[in-house]
Amino acid sequence: MRPGNPFTLSFGKSPEEYISRIPQTDEILRTFREEKPSNQVYMLTGVRGSGKTVMMTQIADELGSDSDWIVLNLNPERDLLNAMASKLYVSEHLQPAFTKARIDLSLLGIGLSIEGATPVSDIEMAIDRMLRIVKNKKKRVLITIDEVTNNDFVRVFVSSFQIMIRQDFPVFLLMTGLFENINLLQNEKSLTFLYRAPKVPMDPLDKMAVSDIMNNLSLNKSNFSPYRARLLKKGIVIAPERGKLSIVLPRFDKFVQLQ
Ligand SMILES: Nc1ncnc2c1ncn2[C@@H]1O[C@H](COP(=O)(O)OP(=O)(O)O)[C@@H](O)[C@H]1O
Ligand SMILES: [Mg+2]
Repeated sequence: MRPGNPFTLSFGKSPEEYISRIPQTDEILRTFREEKPSNQVYMLTGVRGSGKTVMMTQIADELGSDSDWIVLNLNPERDLLNAMASKLYVSEHLQPAFTKARIDLSLLGIGLSIEGATPVSDIEMAIDRMLRIVKNKKKRVLITIDEVTNNDFVRVFVSSFQIMIRQDFPVFLLMTGLFENINLLQNEKSLTFLYRAPKVPMDPLDKMAVSDIMNNLSLNKSNFSPYRARLLKKGIVIAPERGKLSIVLPRFDKFVQLQ
């Protein structure tokens, strides 16, 4: 998100179709940028196609353009701790510092061995050593994970992450997932800290502005309202908030278009 202009987004929607998510996006950015962040984890949750990936990408891009931040995008279907360590190790602003500190991760299959250094053999230890340097340099690390499921990789990663937070490391986590997957993960007994982490529920994007519908149908308020009332009464649409309508059956709009 570029400040003041949310429309320079790359998902190919024209400004009229763009649904503003600025309040949610700003809340996350503001919290993550606090000097002493009150919260270092957010989970974006919603149905397929509700704009989770787009919003996560906007936040990651925004922080990634700030030289104080290192953004690591991780794949939930792979070993997340290893991926975090290897991506962090090669991050351009820190690589020289890691080399200078003689951090040798060659035993973990990361980077080359360093003459005379004792190679680190444990992945959490490797991350620990790097995060000390990150913290010293007053940098922050954002980890994004798109479409989490309750799998081993994610569980192991989150449980290590809670230790990183406890150690007061400047690490931040932004995950997206379907409601059911996020809920399963939050209810894992070993991941208590996720239970308290805020979820940002994303409304389906098919919520239509009444003003747009009236424009499209060339109707004014008085001749539109009987239709609105009838559709509401029949339970075909709901009014999730003032000035908005949503079709109750998922994809019913597509069905109508096809007929
Ligand atoms: N704020 C928004 N306003 C309008 N369209 C959006 C918005 N966010 C996403 N989209 C569109 O909706 C589609 C689904 O978004 P995506 O982020 O992939 O959803 P999800 O990750 O929840 O499945 C994309 O094609 C994107 O172009
Ligand atoms: Mg997605």
